Amino acid sequence: MNILGIETSCDETAAAVVTGAREILADLVLSQLDEHRPYGGVVPEIAARSHLEHIDGLVGRALDQAGIDFSDLDGVAATAGPGLIGGVFVGVMTGKAIAAARGLPFLAINHLEGHALTARLTHDLAFPYLLLLVSGGHCQLAAVEGVGRYRKLGGTLDDAIGESFDKTAKMLGLGYPGGPEVERAARNGDPKRYDLPRPMLGRKSMDFSFSGLKTAVRHQAKAAGALDAGPESQAARDMAASFQAAVADVLADRCARALDRFQEDHGQAGPLVVAGGVAANAYLRARLETVAAANGTELIAPPPKLCTDNGAMIAWAGVERLRAGLTDSLDFAPRPRWPLEELVGEPPAMER
Ligand code: KG4
Ligand code: ZN
Repeated sequence: MNILGIETSCDETAAAVVTGAREILADLVLSQLDEHRPYGGVVPEIAARSHLEHIDGLVGRALDQAGIDFSDLDGVAATAGPGLIGGVFVGVMTGKAIAAARGLPFLAINHLEGHALTARLTHDLAFPYLLLLVSGGHCQLAAVEGVGRYRKLGGTLDDAIGESFDKTAKMLGLGYPGGPEVERAARNGDPKRYDLPRPMLGRKSMDFSFSGLKTAVRHQAKAAGALDAGPESQAARDMAASFQAAVADVLADRCARALDRFQEDHGQAGPLVVAGGVAANAYLRARLETVAAANGTELIAPPPKLCTDNGAMIAWAGVERLRAGLTDSLDFAPRPRWPLEELVGEPPAMER
């Protein structure tokens, strides 16, 4: 089975071909970073126009790299939400056009499900597992029980985690995009220099909150003269390290609680899967590995390249949905807001 995957929901234009045997035949990602950098964040209108300009060529190159033709495809998968709607339209219309022209099944993929199922592509993982999804727009814990079957355990009450990385980087003058810049600066910083809050630590729920942390970073950076200090300043490096340590403590605490709950509900310890752009962070991955081990399980983390947005995760979600018979009609309407729990999924395991 060869599935073409198209991803255009944010600032990466991506196309990939993945097989039912978990082979990635092509995985091309065209970053728009340079186009958005002058604005310090993603400009939706620029993103949509750029996707439109590049998607046809990128799909052609992905097929070339995979060594196949349109006639070798078994289905076309495209991100249909959540995301910046102009970009999502571009990907969905491209996917639908190819599907219509070739008489192929069309798969409208939820971007979050793409992240959530990547560990099955990279690690051949069985259901169920506990998912920590940490990206630019999301931060949540969910039990993954099957294709399209997600049970939310907790989520953020305010900012998404990637957003808090990006804002911290902006405050410190570390450049854009923020996540990798904070991680780099933190490598040479003292995580104990600033005493930052650990929101929600010890709470019974499995929710997150990052806005108080962001405010504390702003106040303390200002007091230390570290606002806009840039990557060469020790104060900025120390703040980056202190921020990252606070985030790690919060994630560790929330995951430990969710692993307990998962054990109660499913009678098994984990595994814990981390996915989404922030999962590319090596410091956080190391910390989550420790948490998983302390709870008698392991951390499964896809390689960083498959944590940040890519087409392979969309193609793979397409493989999974096509196998489960969950195809979509060509009048599927893109959805800017589309929580995982609202997905149409395969029936529960006992009925399969
Ligand atoms: O999944 P993703 O590529 O796009 C969304 O679906 O949102 O995630 C992007 C987010 C951005 O906020 C980016 O700063 C963050 O992931 N990110 C990181 C790292 N690499 C990307 N955050 C922390 N450390 C990193 N190394
Ligand atoms: Zn993403």
